[in-house]
Amino acid sequence: EGIALWGGRFTSGPSEALARLSKSTQFDWRLADDDIAGSRAHARALGRAGHLSADELERMEDALDELQRQVDSGAFAPQESDEDEATALERGLLAIAGDELGGKLRAGRSRNDQIATLIRMWLRRQARFIAADVLDLVRAIIEQSKAADRAVMPGRTHMQHAQPVLVAHQLMAHAWPLMRDIQRLVDWDARAAFSPYGSGALAGNTLGLDPHAVALELGFSDVTENSIDGTASRDLVAEFSFVAAMLGVDISRLSEEIIIWNTQEFAFVRLDDAYSTGSSIMPQKKNPDIAELARGKAGRLIGDLTGLLATLKGLPTAYARDLQEDKEAVFDQVDTLLVLLPAFTGMVATMQFNFERMEAEAPTGFALATDIAEWLVKQKVPFRHAHELSGECVRVAEERGVELWDLTDEDYVSIFADFLDASVASGVRSVLSTLGSVNSRLGKGGTAYERVVEQMAAAEETVIPL
Ligand code: ARG
Repeated sequence: EGIALWGGRFTSGPSEALARLSKSTQFDWRLADDDIAGSRAHARALGRAGHLSADELERMEDALDELQRQVDSGAFAPQESDEDEATALERGLLAIAGDELGGKLRAGRSRNDQIATLIRMWLRRQARFIAADVLDLVRAIIEQSKAADRAVMPGRTHMQHAQPVLVAHQLMAHAWPLMRDIQRLVDWDARAAFSPYGSGALAGNTLGLDPHAVALELGFSDVTENSIDGTASRDLVAEFSFVAAMLGVDISRLSEEIIIWNTQEFAFVRLDDAYSTGSSIMPQKKNPDIAELARGKAGRLIGDLTGLLATLKGLPTAYARDLQEDKEAVFDQVDTLLVLLPAFTGMVATMQFNFERMEAEAPTGFALATDIAEWLVKQKVPFRHAHELSGECVRVAEERGVELWDLTDEDYVSIFADFLDASVASGVRSVLSTLGSVNSRLGKGGTAYERVVEQMAAAEETVIPL
């Protein structure tokens, strides 16, 4: 037999169709443990306010312990007719404690303040699991960067060769956004650490309960200041959802890079067998499915966020049933990230670079043209002209089908003739090497080896306390 948490003023039960629409147990049952923890804290608040005697409180706590045991063992599980997790747990409690005692627990609370509290409790715990997994990924990126040492590669803008960079520099460019995502979760947690319990349905409660004690018992730092806000706002759920979507996007951008590097044409990276997949028809195939799934799942994570924002938009500010729709979005995001991250980290940790090929490609495509222009600036040529002269070098090289370092001293003397003495013109060769180019980018955040070593140390300092 099912129970309902309402019905006194109704002459008939809910229609079958309504019950099916209304029901959320199939997805909110995962909040059951947090709900029982909330019920324990609430029972104590009722006891302190004199609504449960010492003996009743003791029996209530025993009953809740027993309920938790039955939930853990599976002896108690939701049934078809339970509208939501709260309804199921009330049924379980009544069966253990009896109607007389069990029926006292709901005083002074509503499923509105309950569910708003539970989603915060659950998300705060998941945020820690996600942050730990992202931290593992960041560590794997730092390890790969350290292992790459002084290796160089083509740096690209618009996907075209731009300037050579250290492989470590390129990899670390993916670590920083991920570190900021972890930081975002930490910041978010401080804002989510306020308990709505005690807000009641919207206006607060009349029973003299102490919501602060409840909040502390449930791991919150304080109580929400406004009971309507406490029960009706979901900006914190949406903010969590944004960070989850952003993580998806950040991982997707690294995925895209790995997919390109792993093509036969690039051949910059080889994925470990344990983290690649084959084809059912083409025996030679080794596919970067983890990176592709990561890229694909980013779309889904974004969809969860936009769906949630659309649900919230235009809601009048107090509880409305629309808010039941907040949960599946973030549940899906958490499930997605917790499956994706370990696989993705394994792929990153085990991928092997073809440093020789990367180095051979690094200076090609006239990637040292900026170095020529900046060398000219150091010879006091105004940058506007230096840019023109370097462009001229590129034009000549391109016409001949050679690279910049294949131009002769006479070429450089004649191209620079209006600005430089013949005796100094060929000095430009000093910057026509990949390492010369990379190591001259000494400004803070630049790709010079010393700067990248500092950068990796700074990243480690950032992640160690996390
Ligand atoms: N299951 C609902 C939710 O997830 C909580 C129940 C509130 N229902 C109500 N009729 N006030 O939001």
